[in-house]
Amino acid sequence: MRKIGILTGGADCPGLNSVIRAVVRKGMLEGYVVTGIKNGWLGLIENDMRILDLRVTSGIIDRGGTILGTSRINPCENKESIENITENFKRSGMDGVIAVGGEETLKVALALHKENRVKVVGVPKSIDNALSGTDYAFGFDTAVNIATECIDRLHTTAESHHRIMVIEVMGQYTGWIALEAGMAGGADIILVPEFPVDMNQVCESLKKRHERGKSFSIIIVAEGTKLIGYAEKSQGLERRRFGNIGELVAKSIEDATGFETRVSVLGHIQRGGTPTAYDRLIGTRFGIKAVELIQQNKFGKMVSLRGNKLQDVDLEEAVKQRKTIDIDLYETAKVFFA
Ligand code: F6P
Repeated sequence: MRKIGILTGGADCPGLNSVIRAVVRKGMLEGYVVTGIKNGWLGLIENDMRILDLRVTSGIIDRGGTILGTSRINPCENKESIENITENFKRSGMDGVIAVGGEETLKVALALHKENRVKVVGVPKSIDNALSGTDYAFGFDTAVNIATECIDRLHTTAESHHRIMVIEVMGQYTGWIALEAGMAGGADIILVPEFPVDMNQVCESLKKRHERGKSFSIIIVAEGTKLIGYAEKSQGLERRRFGNIGELVAKSIEDATGFETRVSVLGHIQRGGTPTAYDRLIGTRFGIKAVELIQQNKFGKMVSLRGNKLQDVDLEEAVKQRKTIDIDLYETAKVFFA
């Protein structure tokens, strides 16, 4: 009997269940038994798995999160975990494992592939959209839509109270969510990690905008943004634990301009709940393609979207570098700055 495993690792995001559903549907159609591995790599370490069928995966396409659970466990940090994974994979009789995840999950997939421990195919997901091996990682569209809706809501209250509203969005080390949600939400300034920020310039722009008669402003700041002249530590830039930059930006504006300023940190709201139609569609296409790669024995590859065409790319290539924002798009956004 032929078998496939699927796991979802790292941060959850909307669209994961579309992939799981597609892998089960396509896998069963091609004669595979599909096993769901619980909580990312942890499920392979602890041999925590269950068979997935049409009944378990029915009615999940519109659900956020992942029915398999996830974790941020990195087995490469522990030799015993790696040995357990190797042993459990061998014993399971699976032809291959589909690892759905972001940069960290896929780096583990690459390491396991290189050491010949697990036959693996990667599927990219990330609300941050920061994987360079693909034009698009699902989850991003939903995050941008949620953030845009929040900006719209914060716009009306900022305008009513004649305030500056600083809105902090996720994205780790890249500014994709800030840039696209900021543009769609009509932000007056967008601050991203790709360009260290001089707060004096920001405050000067805001003063000019107010001199022109505007009594409120919307500023979007990506969580990983660096401010010139501030120690990195004070900005909360440790690995994956951001969440301080909005406050710093707001305080700096209030001190320099006297404008009343408020902060909203959108946080995990951006990752939860119903996926957009686009993320469901991409998740579904990625899932089908991943099964095809296993059928073709194309291990050590990641499903990738180039233009609107699905391709495969070496995992090695896919995780090599982070995809930073499109500079042309940022130049377009700047036309609308304060
Ligand atoms: O990578 C997705 C992401 O949501 C980032 O944008 C954010 O910095 C991070 O995960 C938060 O991680 P956690 O949920 O572990 O706090």
